[in-house]
Amino acid sequence: MTSITHGHAERPTDLCIVGAGYVGLTAAACFADLGHRVRCLEASPARLGLLRRGVVPIFEPGLDELVARNVAAGRLSFTDDVHEAMAEASIVFMCVGTPPRADGTPDLGQLACAARDVVTSTGRDLILVNKSTVPPGTGEALELLSEEHAAPGQRISVVSNPEFLRESRAVEDFFHPDRIVVGAEDAETGRRVAELYEMGTPVVLSDRRGAELVKYASNVFLAIKISFANEIAGLCERLGTDATPVLRGVGLDSRIGTQFLSQGPGYGGSCLPKDLSGLLAVGEAVGYEAPLAAAAEATNARARRSVIDRLETALGGLNGARIGVLGLAFKPGTDDTRDSPAVDLVRLLVERGAIVHAQDPLASPVTIPAARVDEPLEAARDADALVVATGWPEYAALDPEIVGRAMARRIIFDAVNALPSQAWRDAGFTVYGVGRGAPTSFHPVVWAPIEWALRSGAVAAAAPAVAGA
Ligand SMILES: NC(=O)c1ccc[n+]([C@@H]2O[C@H](COP(=O)([O-])OP(=O)(O)OC[C@H]3O[C@@H](n4cnc5c(N)ncnc54)[C@H](O)[C@@H]3O)[C@@H](O)[C@H]2O)c1
Repeated sequence: MTSITHGHAERPTDLCIVGAGYVGLTAAACFADLGHRVRCLEASPARLGLLRRGVVPIFEPGLDELVARNVAAGRLSFTDDVHEAMAEASIVFMCVGTPPRADGTPDLGQLACAARDVVTSTGRDLILVNKSTVPPGTGEALELLSEEHAAPGQRISVVSNPEFLRESRAVEDFFHPDRIVVGAEDAETGRRVAELYEMGTPVVLSDRRGAELVKYASNVFLAIKISFANEIAGLCERLGTDATPVLRGVGLDSRIGTQFLSQGPGYGGSCLPKDLSGLLAVGEAVGYEAPLAAAAEATNARARRSVIDRLETALGGLNGARIGVLGLAFKPGTDDTRDSPAVDLVRLLVERGAIVHAQDPLASPVTIPAARVDEPLEAARDADALVVATGWPEYAALDPEIVGRAMARRIIFDAVNALPSQAWRDAGFTVYGVGRGAPTSFHPVVWAPIEWALRSGAVAAAAPAVAGA
């Protein structure tokens, strides 16, 4: 993690960052740490109020220290006044939300408003860099919108610079990215943006639509990988074999890779589901089908349902059952609950009549049709079953005996493979997990040819073919 200032920018630049969320606040603090002078524009009074009091409103390891250090050094400040934010800047990074609408397409309203405000706040030439995740083609639309609002003679160059950080590792990812992608219609402007990073990371330069597509395509690939893992895990359950070594055996092939190749309740978070439906919408807009992406979405929904179906079978029904859910954040290490699989599991349980008590050590407030309790043991109290829905390390450290004593029945569904399952079995628990199950008997139509093939193999082995035949 960052303990010394990275400040080495050969050409310190005045930047404006619009939006102080996971992406914007991280970029603002990290660019300031590289030596640039950064003013961050934030519209939410609640977030801005906290930042002005020196409190970082989101949880990201190392971010609070980085913000404090750069505010103290005078390289980083926060405001809701666009004129103040734009006072010196010639390069502006747009880091506002692009949440999904009901039909799956992204809502670009925040981006349009922010671009209009930024352009009308100054008559200077600007490089408008979009970091928000958007459908390919958005850069052109932003350019048209900017031209509409520009002062006479003002030149606005719109550049795409998608962000790939992972929540819970945002600062680390900013300073050590796999690649920096910059899409510009004019190569010189693209290079100027890439140079701001000065980190010796591979830079991919493309046109704007290409850069916008890199972000969508990367997230869709990750979603497909997770859904593939869940598809194989479902097969493992029916074959009665454990998916964990199977997927590890697959992933250790260096052409495949182990990351994002594990079974669970499916992907979630603020990016993968949104970007996958965004890609499907783009495909539809240009008359192109994306069947792999569509299948990943369907498999993801099945992964959620499968956890609940199996628990329902294990309990002999969920109506009136008392279930403790451990976890609400979409993954461990973050407070983010947007599109969280854990929250979906709570909703599905309640839809089937369960009474749910949910707990999470860090998750931000979220609307759930269930009671939220402070401690894991409160969630376990009198429960017919526990569901581990987020892989927080503290759940793996729970004492199964103490938890078991609090519960009505010793049943646990570890949906994220977080627990040392043998220790829980030793404490008398029936432990369920994704990708682990009792074998299903082979359908006779399938089994007969396998048996036949083995028998005929045995006959062939008994009478080996003549050499050279
Ligand atoms: N969160 C991630 O892990 C991640 C990773 C890569 C890319 N992205 C993409 O980056 C974008 C931002 O994501 P996020 O998670 O940081 O969102 P976020 O909701 O946490 O932050 C967006 C911020 O922008 C502010 N804002 C909105 N309109 C504004 C305006 N006109 N002026 C000033 N501030 C304004 C909001 O108040 C909010 O604080 C999205 O497009 C997202 O898809 C996110």
